[in-house]
Amino acid sequence: MSDRTDKISILIRDAAKKAMEDNDSSIDQVKTTTVEWPVSCTVGPGLEGAIACETKIGYVNGSKGQLIYRGYDIFDLCENSSFEEVTYLLLYGRMPSEKQTIKFKNKLFKYMYIPETTRLLTSFQIEEMDTMASLRFGISLLRLTNIRKKKTDGFPETSVLIGTDEDSIPMETPPIGEEHAIYEFDEMSTDSGKNDAVRHKSERAETCCRLISGVASLTAAIARIRSGHLPLEPIPELSHAGNLIYMMTGKKPTPDEERVMDVCLILHADHGMNASTFAALVVASTLADIYFSVGSGIGALSGQLHGGANQKAYAMLKEIGGPDNVKSWYKKACSEKRKIMGVGHRVYKTHDPRALILDPLAGYLAKKDKKINVLYETSKILEKHVCCTLGAEKGHFPNVDYYSGLVYKSLGIPNDLFTPIFAVSRVSGWTARVMEYLENNRIFRPRAIYTGPFCKRIIKTRGFNGGVNEK
Ligand SMILES: CC(C)(COP(=O)(O)OP(=O)(O)OC[C@H]1O[C@@H](n2cnc3c(N)ncnc32)[C@H](O)[C@@H]1OP(=O)(O)O)[C@@H](O)C(=O)NCCC(=O)NCCS
Repeated sequence: MSDRTDKISILIRDAAKKAMEDNDSSIDQVKTTTVEWPVSCTVGPGLEGAIACETKIGYVNGSKGQLIYRGYDIFDLCENSSFEEVTYLLLYGRMPSEKQTIKFKNKLFKYMYIPETTRLLTSFQIEEMDTMASLRFGISLLRLTNIRKKKTDGFPETSVLIGTDEDSIPMETPPIGEEHAIYEFDEMSTDSGKNDAVRHKSERAETCCRLISGVASLTAAIARIRSGHLPLEPIPELSHAGNLIYMMTGKKPTPDEERVMDVCLILHADHGMNASTFAALVVASTLADIYFSVGSGIGALSGQLHGGANQKAYAMLKEIGGPDNVKSWYKKACSEKRKIMGVGHRVYKTHDPRALILDPLAGYLAKKDKKINVLYETSKILEKHVCCTLGAEKGHFPNVDYYSGLVYKSLGIPNDLFTPIFAVSRVSGWTARVMEYLENNRIFRPRAIYTGPFCKRIIKTRGFNGGVNEK
């Protein structure tokens, strides 16, 4: 346990205490033995309850409100670590030493420089595009520029590689040893004497780092372009989180602001088999390259039932307008069967620990701005109504997206950049899980139950140009 005494750490510690009081904090001693496939499970609509794979990366206990990354509790990680350390933990499976942390921070910092990609980005009408669409597009540009770099390094023609993939790799074949199929993971290596599997793993991790830094720089560049400015480059004295704020807003964050953003990035880094992680894994399982995987993750995250909820939740608070309006607004919303954005979760049936951490941080930052403070107070009153109704009846409580918008707004970030920030963090979970899954890949291929008709026949009528009559 660290002895950090800064205000943010104290708020997180208090939130942890509260969570322990409210929930059963005992860890279920699940025996982690090798799973015998096929596994029996009860599957509900939306694949609820389906088991897709094994993982050592993260654990979510929805009934106890627990979130664990590789054995470490989220409260502990938020209080005592940084996003860079957590990313290292997710990717490599252990906490870095001090030396490794410095080296890893330098690596992520180095990969934040993507001037060639941002130059390309500025030549498109990014300001007329949705921010998540811009980010997904930016990933394609990053892929392009990274491949170009490899070409100048003597990397083989990509068209040949793509052709080779399709022709030579049978479906559902494990990728181990199939170098071409995972070429986009592979950086050029001059050390041919190294064990191939080890070399592949470290090269894959290197590409993951490029993507993790790339998503941050692209998000910042999109923010700058949309506000009529040129993209900024990172500065060495700031952390990943600090640079994200600086490169988006053009203002160096205060230590508190940098730390809160860091906590936000830690909180959103991984979350079980959520929709965007699953999307990224599905794409990776076809042996498509990691840039496509991350692009799919971004696509899935953009939806308002997933990452897009943070923008919607903030918009909802603005629509309510103030604490006095909550009661009537909520009554009407319930009568119209409206979804309360930032509330509810497929897995959590108690308080989302991420929301418990973000709530006091949002309140702390909001105090500095009267207008945002009104919205924070509004959120607290609405939360009371939600807990007594949706919470008590269906186990739906505020989730991470309920408060994150308030935090980002306090950091000077516009509404339409909230969801891309989610991606800046979650890309570390996506890439870590893709790395893990590819160790023992099998293409995802569930089934659907056909409920349509059979035995229909086409009846062609004379003189009839196109279309058919059905029978
Ligand atoms: C997250 C979410 C998609 C989970 O979906 P799910 O597991 O499929 O849960 P369902 O949508 O089936 O919800 C079950 C019931 O709770 C209700 N419910 C769930 N979330 C609700 C919300 N935010 N507001 C009002 N009612 C909600 C549903 O209407 C449904 O009611 P019914 O049984 O009377 O039909 C859902 O809670 C939601 O849409 N929340 C708002 C968006 C959001 O914040 N997303 C971010 C998640 S981190």
